[in-house]
Amino acid sequence: SERPYVIDEMISAKAIAARIEDLCRDIHKSFADTEKLVVVGLLRGSFVFIADLVRELDLPVEVDFLEVSSYGDAMESSREVRVLKDLRGGIEGRDVLVVEDIVDTGHTLSHVTRLLLSRNPARLRTIALLDKPSRREADFKADWIGFEIPDEFVVGYGIDFAQRNRNLPFIGKVRFT
Ligand code: PRP
Ligand code: MN
Ligand code: MG
Repeated sequence: SERPYVIDEMISAKAIAARIEDLCRDIHKSFADTEKLVVVGLLRGSFVFIADLVRELDLPVEVDFLEVSSYGDAMESSREVRVLKDLRGGIEGRDVLVVEDIVDTGHTLSHVTRLLLSRNPARLRTIALLDKPSRREADFKADWIGFEIPDEFVVGYGIDFAQRNRNLPFIGKVRFT
């Protein structure tokens, strides 16, 4: 964006790491008996979260990615979810954990879970680091959420504003100056 803005820290890297440890304890309980867990990251926003999450998971894990896009470079959801790159592997009969950075309107994850359920996985669960329930349009609820946040435009830890700021180690909110 051309409009100048600053980023105020909202969730520190330390708080994120601590929350991931809690979440992984719950995930272990749900998938303790799994033969193999296919952890599916939604590109591009989930790449930081999935990297930290799988390194806390003491389970037999396979990592795959699905690229979908709804926002492009805009600040508003297009409500139209496009699959830009499909999974490498099949998930029929497999345990699957879909990893997302943020649930906003819910269109992305509701579309993706419908798509992946049609491939008949054994179990499919979803996890999102952030949830903005006040913005929900699609009827969707993730199985695990890191933090519920108010309706602020956030960046960092994988999340972009017009493709920038994904590399910030914390979650910050955008404030136009
Ligand atoms: C963002 C974000 C989620 C999705 C959430 O992705 O990473 O995937 O939007 O919004 P929703 O709940 O309203 O659908 P984006 O489309 O910007 O692609 P990106 O991950 O490559 O940034
Ligand atoms: Mn995304
Ligand atoms: Mg984006």
